[in-house]
Amino acid sequence: MLKTSHLTVACLIAALSGIALGQGSEALLARGQYLMNGPVACANCHMPRDNKGLPAYKKGLSGGMRFDDPMFTAYAPNITPDTETGIGLWTDAQLAKAIREGIRPDGSVIGPPMPISFYKHLSDADLSAIIAYLKAQPAIKNKVEKSSYRMPLPPNYGPPVHDVATPSSADTLVYGQYLANIAHCMDCHDPRKSNGMLDVAHQGAGGQVFPGPWGKSLARNITPDKSGLKDWSDTQIARAIRNGVDRNGEHYKPPMAFDWYKNINDTDMAALIAHLRSLPPQPLGGKE
Ligand code: HEC
Ligand code: HEC
Repeated sequence: MLKTSHLTVACLIAALSGIALGQGSEALLARGQYLMNGPVACANCHMPRDNKGLPAYKKGLSGGMRFDDPMFTAYAPNITPDTETGIGLWTDAQLAKAIREGIRPDGSVIGPPMPISFYKHLSDADLSAIIAYLKAQPAIKNKVEKSSYRMPLPPNYGPPVHDVATPSSADTLVYGQYLANIAHCMDCHDPRKSNGMLDVAHQGAGGQVFPGPWGKSLARNITPDKSGLKDWSDTQIARAIRNGVDRNGEHYKPPMAFDWYKNINDTDMAALIAHLRSLPPQPLGGKE
């Protein structure tokens, strides 16, 4: 009798913790969903495009987008859980190391344009949420070509990263900076030096040119300079980021991740805008 009741209690505890675990993983997945469909927008590179250059949502994160640069021809890999052509055999820890440190399970280094220098700021919790999301996606078979680099890749992107906390949204500026990092805004909006590296001393000054089927687009100055966002209202900035339209309602060209940034929630948008307004004003491209 005693034994049975112990067993019952044990079962009950197991059942309860099962429920708790279920809820925990649901919350994790929901956070992953929000990040991936909102500010983090990995799909802007890892989702295939149709022949008009629009995201092919049905093909998920199965990769294939090609990036041409004088220094490399890179292809975004398949990051769906397909075991043959995707990341299906990678453990959570291996995925974490790849995303935040740029090192694959075989020890090789992931090259540009994968924005590792921004992803190394991802918190442990948000990284777990992104991994939970990746693993919950349907596996899609799509073999992607290997990238080739006509330059040496760095041996690594810095020391191993661990124990990163998510900043509280109550500290708007710190949180806004965190969001700008994980949304890799400055990967496009910082000017680049002649060696191709980001000119972080002129953060947000714009000036990079993006050629594509759309012609050419020029990353704008998003600092509070008069050639930047000085005279823009918060509503106008939010509309530019979410809907991809300027103050006159004219549509911007790719490759900014409007299809995902449109889902950035109001708290996060306010923090992002506060962060942009806190940047030192810079002339366009960082040059007078
Ligand atoms: C600006 C484009 C871009 C963005 C944004 C981007 N990636 Fe990548 N990613 C790439 C490219 C290109 C490679 C391949 C680089 C190479 O061949 O060395 C890559 C490689 C990877 C790899 C290694 C896969 C393999 O099989 O080698 C993983 C995992 C990965 N990305 C996950 C992510 C996740 C998760 C995000 C969002 C948090 C993300 N990427 C955002 C372009 C991008
Ligand atoms: C993949 C590159 C890329 C990324 C990532 C990116 N942007 Fe952009 N952004 C651009 C380009 C290019 C334009 C201009 C497009 C055009 O003129 O058609 C632009 C335009 C803008 C504008 C309009 C400014 C103006 O003066 O008209 C704002 C605001 C902006 N980006 C903010 C952001 C923020 C904030 C983030 C991160 C959440 C971000 N961008 C991420 C490439 C990017």
